[in-house]
Amino acid sequence: MTTRRIAEWVSVTDDVSIIARESGEVWFHNRNETKGQVDPFAVPMQGSGSLGSTVGLLDGAINLAFTTIERELARPKPTLAAYIVALVGAYHTSVDTAQNLRRAAGRFEEIGRPEVAAYLEMRAREETGHDRLAIKDLRALGVPGERLVANFIPEGIKPLCKRFDELCAEEYPIGSIGYSYCLERIAALKVKSDIDSVQAICPAGVDATRFLRSHSSLGSEAAHVDETIEFVASLPADDRIRVVRETYQSALLLAEGYNHELLKSEMQLQREIEQALGQSLEYPDPQGYSIAQERAAVAARAD
Ligand SMILES: [Fe+2]
Ligand SMILES: [Fe+2]
Repeated sequence: MTTRRIAEWVSVTDDVSIIARESGEVWFHNRNETKGQVDPFAVPMQGSGSLGSTVGLLDGAINLAFTTIERELARPKPTLAAYIVALVGAYHTSVDTAQNLRRAAGRFEEIGRPEVAAYLEMRAREETGHDRLAIKDLRALGVPGERLVANFIPEGIKPLCKRFDELCAEEYPIGSIGYSYCLERIAALKVKSDIDSVQAICPAGVDATRFLRSHSSLGSEAAHVDETIEFVASLPADDRIRVVRETYQSALLLAEGYNHELLKSEMQLQREIEQALGQSLEYPDPQGYSIAQERAAVAARAD
């Protein structure tokens, strides 16, 4: 193997490095397999980045993390209770984003990195108000959104929120870019059919997919991802290494958190929502649909 044509590499665990070429080719290099030989990837990369190799490293980190989570990623049929919990999670992962990004921007300003500060400030502006989209969606579903989010943070989402808070408060908060990339890249994978399948479980005539549309390939998320790739590719090698490592760590937390929530039964999700609200959920909609009816249907199927 020659390193001459290789553009970038980052070790993301004790054993595994991700290697990416400018052409977009990506592979995972296991250090254990080169024991006794000279490992050209044991030395941190020092060269400049390119768009193709940077996106290869970032997406390689997400793919590696998702395959590291042993259990198959849960992909249950969408249900209203799961969607309500997802909206609550969406609220909590966006309510502090702008403030956190500004905090990180302030730190980069202090340490003489105005270009990083400017990028983070721009991202903070772009993310402002996204928590309100989730609240509007909850309200559209007849759920008192403010009360629900005030009393309820889904367990699987807590570690993600904590991670972002901590990353943005670090002395050198470059990891915040890896976290944001991870969340936005995964959101940008959602396509129209994903939104249609959620729309199909919402009561007729109700628009409760504002957050989802905005955080999908149909909304601004794809542009946010492109901006981030371009910016990360322009960073010095040390920064790119840190960003890719954090993308990997955030993707692990995200995959674990998603599974934690998605593997819960409809009944369990329903109970969590109702406990937080202190009331049962009913949807006054033209089709007469109610989550209580869905609960009864689920219970009937289980019999
Ligand atoms: Fe957002
Ligand atoms: Fe975004």
